[in-house]
Amino acid sequence: MGDNRQIRNIALTGFMGCGKSAVGRVVARVAGFEYIDTDQFIEEHVGMSIPRIFEEHGEETFRRYEREVVVRLAERENTVISTGGGLLVGAENMDTMKQYAMVFCLWASPETIWRRVKGQSHRPLLNTDNPRQRIIDLLEERKPAYGRSDMLINTEYRSAKDVANLILSQFRKAP
Ligand code: S3P
Repeated sequence: MGDNRQIRNIALTGFMGCGKSAVGRVVARVAGFEYIDTDQFIEEHVGMSIPRIFEEHGEETFRRYEREVVVRLAERENTVISTGGGLLVGAENMDTMKQYAMVFCLWASPETIWRRVKGQSHRPLLNTDNPRQRIIDLLEERKPAYGRSDMLINTEYRSAKDVANLILSQFRKAP
């Protein structure tokens, strides 16, 4: 798989609340790249918010939209792609995206994530009786998938700018 990669873009993955959007925007600004957020892309194309897609069509349909986005973005270049936290969990999506992007995973502990996302209501997966436990479980479940990224970056003690600089220095070394 890795042999015929054409790294023309930067993709960001990682759990909700790890700063993908904030970091992605900085990377795009500094690199002069376009910025795309897959959740926004889906919302615009479907004409519905993510919570409404989950509510009316279910998670499976949302995941299908995500797969379609991964394929559609293959023609892009010089773009920072900030992905929804579950988009690169499937091996097929990860493999496809790695063909045209260097994939960076932003990481934080469940406690930090909880601190960042509590009080927000736009994340359907966390609308449960015990969102804190859900974060712990989902993060554990997704660890192997996130670990398949090109680089894992702990965001706990780093500013968005520092994380962006790390990403850019690594990306510039790409063949
Ligand atoms: C999801 C993360 C969300 C959004 C959807 C599902 C996930 O994006 O795609 O609610 O499965 O982790 P963010 O990671 O940008 O919050």
